[in-house]
Amino acid sequence: ELIYLKSLNNPIPENVSPGTEVGIINVQDRDSDSNRQVRCSIQQNVPFKLVPSIKNYYSLVTTGQLDRELVSDYNITISATDEGSPPLSSSKTVQLSVADINDNPPVFEDQSYSAYVSENNKPGSTLCSVTARDPDWRQNGTVIYSLLPGEVNGAPVSSYLSVNGDTGVIHAVRSFDYEQFRSFKVQVMARDNGSPPLSSNVTVSVFISDVNDNSPQILYPAPEGNSFMTELVPKAAHGGSLVSKVIAVDADSGQNAWLSYHIVKSTDPGLFTIGLHSGEIRTQRDISESDSMKQNLLVSVKDNGQPSLSATCSMYLLISDNLAEVPELKDISYDDKNSKLTSYLIIALVSVSTFFLTFIIIILGVRFCRRRKPRLLFDGAVAIPSAYLPPNYADVDGTGTLRSTYNYDAYLTTGSRTSDFKFVHITVTCVNVAAFPF
Ligand SMILES: *[C@@H]1O[C@H](CO)[C@@H](O)[C@H](O)[C@H]1NC(C)=O
Ligand SMILES: *[C@@H]1O[C@H](CO)[C@@H](O)[C@H](O)[C@H]1NC(C)=O
Ligand SMILES: *[C@@H]1O[C@H](CO)[C@@H](O)[C@H](O)[C@H]1NC(C)=O
Repeated sequence: ELIYLKSLNNPIPENVSPGTEVGIINVQDRDSDSNRQVRCSIQQNVPFKLVPSIKNYYSLVTTGQLDRELVSDYNITISATDEGSPPLSSSKTVQLSVADINDNPPVFEDQSYSAYVSENNKPGSTLCSVTARDPDWRQNGTVIYSLLPGEVNGAPVSSYLSVNGDTGVIHAVRSFDYEQFRSFKVQVMARDNGSPPLSSNVTVSVFISDVNDNSPQILYPAPEGNSFMTELVPKAAHGGSLVSKVIAVDADSGQNAWLSYHIVKSTDPGLFTIGLHSGEIRTQRDISESDSMKQNLLVSVKDNGQPSLSATCSMYLLISDNLAEVPELKDISYDDKNSKLTSYLIIALVSVSTFFLTFIIIILGVRFCRRRKPRLLFDGAVAIPSAYLPPNYADVDGTGTLRSTYNYDAYLTTGSRTSDFKFVHITVTCVNVAAFPF
């Protein structure tokens, strides 16, 4: 027998439907008539069969789905046997290839990826890598990675991460700050180069870990140079009394924010203690007469990081029952700024006192003038709540100032004729004075 391959679709695309004809075979037998009956067959274990068509012709058709990714080529052996005796047979092997179709999307090796990075990382540092496989052929199986657009804290993800399109290695674009955010998620797409391309997406979670990069921040007492913050300690305070408390916070977390308090310097080392973790300042024993009135403590606040960071503050304590008996407050603080502030305060105080004294003198003078010409002064009177009056000025009704009051009176009476404003002003004060028992 002679087996002829009349036609063959080779390669066959893997997506052909079952029953598709892939080739035509012709068998010829040159023996006598009786032996002309020829039977033709192929092996069993292939998704193909021979279908007889017109005389001595057979179609090779598929019997199932082909999958290039499982079997990419077949050696099909066609056997032809006649019905003579003894039967004669011959065979021919046909090699069939299966052509690729882009039927597999890239598949990530892991369902999701996590990257762990310490804050303050270098921009450009590698965080992790993702891998996706695509079993298709050549460009249908070539994977390209990319970051899907999205936002992290209002900024595009591309300002945080980048992914190498060929290798899937993910890099940090910037330095991360744990105090700003502790984790974020991005989507990475793996796309093949087929046409049309297939893709899959995966979530990459980035977890930022804390580094001890924040020193403790002392909230109380306020930082030095800002005030004369002092604490009053009653003279009768017993040992163990709570006197004050240092309050501090740390922006880090965990051990990096676990604070401990120590007194590093004090006027009298045996007098006060500080709670190691509470920051509470207590007397260690009863206050005695011999104790210095002014007590300064230098407190250090440390976190428990590796290495640890610290901050210090000064606490000014006054052993006294009454702030009024405290001498020269400014001695306690040695700050230049503070002494400047003190002089401003003194200037302000002196100006206010002067003003007030002038005010009193005017009142006394006006009272004098009211007695002389009461009618004129009550004309056009404006009522002002008596609450505006200084509370203690009724006391200042000394007869010793009579002489100067009289002088003022003389000035005012001349002045009030030329200036309306002064006149009204004086009238107002007079009315209010009138409400007071003189
Ligand atoms: C088919 O035959 C060729 C040549 O004989 C051989 O190289 C190939 O491995 C065979 N393929 C299969 C699937 O058996
Ligand atoms: C990829 O798949 C497409 C159909 O999806 C096909 O036409 C093309 O030939 C394939 N490319 C290769 C290199 O196999
Ligand atoms: C991946 O995400 C992109 C953008 O959201 C989308 O266009 C694409 O269809 C997604 N792919 C899969 C497999 O979900």
